[in-house]
Amino acid sequence: MTYSELNTPLRTIMTPGPVEVDPRVLRAMSTPILGQFDPAFTNIMNEVMDMLRKLFQTKNKWAFPVDGTSRSGVEALLCSIIEPGDKVLVPIFGRFGHLLTEICERYGADVHTMECRWGEVFQQETVIEEIKKVSPKVVAVVHGETSTGRMQPLEKIGAACREVDALLVVDAVASIAGAEVKVDEWCIDGIIAGTQKCLSVPAGMAPITYNERIEKVINSRKKVERGISTADDRQRESTMNRPMVKSNYFDVSMLQDYWSPRRLNHHTEATSMLFALREGLRIVLEEGLENRFKRHKFHETALTAGLEAMGLELFGDKANKLPTVTCVKVPGGVEADAVRSMLLEQFGIEIASSFGPLHGKIWRIGSMGFSCRQENILFVLSALEAVLVRHGVSIPTGKALQAALDVYTREKTEKPAPVASS
Ligand SMILES: Cc1ncc(COP(=O)(O)O)c(C=O)c1O
Repeated sequence: MTYSELNTPLRTIMTPGPVEVDPRVLRAMSTPILGQFDPAFTNIMNEVMDMLRKLFQTKNKWAFPVDGTSRSGVEALLCSIIEPGDKVLVPIFGRFGHLLTEICERYGADVHTMECRWGEVFQQETVIEEIKKVSPKVVAVVHGETSTGRMQPLEKIGAACREVDALLVVDAVASIAGAEVKVDEWCIDGIIAGTQKCLSVPAGMAPITYNERIEKVINSRKKVERGISTADDRQRESTMNRPMVKSNYFDVSMLQDYWSPRRLNHHTEATSMLFALREGLRIVLEEGLENRFKRHKFHETALTAGLEAMGLELFGDKANKLPTVTCVKVPGGVEADAVRSMLLEQFGIEIASSFGPLHGKIWRIGSMGFSCRQENILFVLSALEAVLVRHGVSIPTGKALQAALDVYTREKTEKPAPVASS
């Protein structure tokens, strides 16, 4: 049997991830690989650590990617901190809060949850009250919840955690590089990013950073793989009174040793992904964090203006909307997935459905990273209008693009620089 040459269709990807990869990143991925201890490679590792600190707005010593998709970073941080029986508090406002809960439960945590309606977020005071009541070792919370398109305010929660000596771990997979995330200023102890969303790098790495509060916990369980440990390592481990981390692959104390000058081997580093991440980060830093956040807000304004002019209703609490994900209510009588299929088949545009109670009720349109461009916003609006008309939905036609163009042609002062690419 023969197989044809790989020939994928070109798509306009307007989902909450994965999104279109910047062509510069694709080029970086075809760079010849290097050995993982080659000084040329370890120098690249150090550069990536440095760029990650800037992305996370932190002075933390530790900032490096975990190899695996975003949830690998979540699992690595949580399983390296949690010991069986530890109390963890998880505020849940969508699918990924449930994911945090599940990961903590799998590692034997005593998980306390609080839930609010999907489409809303928590008042920070409500979370703080619960923190005081539960007095957990860890508070794990999502920042940008892609399933509902909401963003949980966090700036007061970290300080409250410190008062009860709890560690704050944040999933910023969908918000990093698209919205403000101030790790040090918000007293976030550990945080996880994703590559396939606002960084516009393929899925496959999960950048994390953590501070000395988490480092202390991790070091108290520090393990060196038996086949490569020294007599000193074994001596230290013989006096260790904490249980070893239950995962080998996700044991951050071991990853830390590879990302430190000791360069102690763990798994084989995903070379081409690291090249991709480095280029993705370089693009973000060239654009500048503030400019990047402004660009995401700007295109969100055009997109939502267009959708509303089309007579569609946005889903969820407006005050806490995640700027990188826009949720739209599916008009009554319309088959949500049929509309998505037609967008893909006739226009080559991909938008997303949602999960659980929201499946079939809302569409989710991502405007992230390299996908967050004027031509994509105008294309998705025009195509959606045509497809809805085709599905017999009575909507005002011709208004959506005009509303978006009003935003795009407004006075230049408001306008961020166009997305960088070449
Ligand atoms: C907020 C959030 N957290 C975690 C994940 C899990 O990421 P991955 O699928 O890359 O493992 C996602 C994926 O969409 C997400 O949106």
